This record gives sequence, C-alpha cells and structure tokens, in this order.
Amino acid sequence: MRDYKDLKEEELLKLILGGNLPEHIAIIMDGNGRWAKQRRLPRISGHKVGMDSVRDIITLSREIGIKVLTLYAFSQENWKRPQSEVRALMGLLQEYLKKEIKTMIEKGIQFRAIGEIEKLPVKTQEVINNAIENTSKNGDLILNVALSYGGRSEIIEAIKNILRDIEKGDISADNLNESLFEDYLDTSGLPDPDLLIRTSGEKRISNFLLWQSAYTEFYFTDTLWPDFRKKEMLLAILNYQQRERRFGLTREQIKRGLYAL
Ligand code: FPP
Repeated sequence: MRDYKDLKEEELLKLILGGNLPEHIAIIMDGNGRWAKQRRLPRISGHKVGMDSVRDIITLSREIGIKVLTLYAFSQENWKRPQSEVRALMGLLQEYLKKEIKTMIEKGIQFRAIGEIEKLPVKTQEVINNAIENTSKNGDLILNVALSYGGRSEIIEAIKNILRDIEKGDISADNLNESLFEDYLDTSGLPDPDLLIRTSGEKRISNFLLWQSAYTEFYFTDTLWPDFRKKEMLLAILNYQQRERRFGLTREQIKRGLYAL
C-alpha cells in the first residue's frame, strides 16, 4: 500500500487536482488546548497557533477551488468554558476578521456565519456583520464560520419558523419536504458538506451540521488543530477521493451510470 504521507506537498497537490474535489468541506477544529498543554503553555496559545492553521487552510481551499469551507469555531457548549478563554476566543476572531478583511475582499472570499450570532458580544457581532456585508458579492470561496452553533437547536429554530409561516398561511404543511426544510436552516443555499474533518483523535460529530451531514464522508485524524496545515488537508482530501460515495445505490448501479448523482 502506498503511503501518501511520504509525498511532498506539491506531489499531493498534483494528485488531488486530478480527482474529484469535494465542493464543501466542514471542519471540527479540535485539540488546541492539548497542543498547548503538551508544551506547558496556556490554552490560549493553542488557539493562537490554531489561527495560523485557520489561515493556511482557508488559503489552500481557495487555491485548489473548494467552494465552501465551514469551520466550527465555537459551539453552544463552549460558553461553559472559563470566561477568560471565551473572551480570548472572541478577541482572536475579531482580530482575525479585522486583519484579514482586505485579503478576503481581494481574494474573492465570501464570509458567512451560522449559529446564534445574536448571543455573541456586541463588538464581535459588529465585526462579523461588517465582514459579511463587505464580502457578500464575492464568490470564489464561501468561508462559513459556525459560532455559538448547535445542530439540534438549529433544527428546532427551523421548525419554529416553519410553524409560524404555516400559521401565517405563507406555506402549507402538505408542501413541507426536505428541500423546503433546508431553506429554514442557517446553511440555506449552501450544498451539504461532502467531507467532514475532525482533528485531535476524537471521533464524534458533537452537534455539528446534524441535518446537513446525512451523506457526508467523515475523516478523523490524530493531528491536533494547530498542527493541521496544508499537507494534512491534502491528505484528507486524497483519502476522500479514494472512497466510493454510493448514496444508498449499489456499486453496479453506479458503474452502469444508471443514476446521475
Ligand atoms: C478546539 O480546541 C478549538 C476551539 C474550541 C476554538 C477554535 C477556534 C479558533 C481557532 C478561532 C476560529 C476563528 C476563525 C476566524 C474561524 P480545544 O480548546 O477544544 O482543545 P482541547 O480539546 O485539546 O482542549
């Protein structure tokens, strides 16, 4: 068996560009705290270095033509962390957006956010809304950041809004189907993730994109997020390209091209 880990970044790049690229990649960025602990550093240092990984992965995604990149930056459960850590994470996010907004505009990156944005500190919300407005016309890569996000509550919110619209007479219960339901999710208009990556050895979905990941391919790596750089991302994509996505069909049906996927 070939070990792709021995290949250089450029060789991996050539390989993956010859195959089908995932349109939407979602990432659970995990392991910043452990990375810092291993080095006897405060947790926030792990988050700081993790931001360099964020930058690397966004750059690579744009360069190779990924259409949507969704990053799980802050879950609803993360509010339970020490206040100082929550404050530091919000600060890092603000700093990043302020610093990178010019590059995002230049490079055609569209910034979006999913989750309970209204629960974030007002200052953070301002920076986020500014980034959304200033990049809304861009179309090369959609950078979608999940903040105070939880998949179950996203679904409940969708149901509440559907019920309101049924009450108002805007839609009827009989017309409700998967496609209409998706219009009520935070990810409305985005394709489902083709590939979901989780770093740091944990093998859970942790309330991330529950509805959207019904047919997603999962990739788990022991690498901690601050160490997850371009080469790691290329290895994840290569691994994805070697899988066969059947969406419930038989291998025979796919081979005979009976169904367009
Ligand atoms: C998980 O590591 C990481 C987080 C909860 C935060 C990640 C967020 C960033 C790097 C900022 C994101 C900013 C943008 C612009 C997308 P952990 O603290 O859970 O690590 P541990 O499991 O080892 O403790």
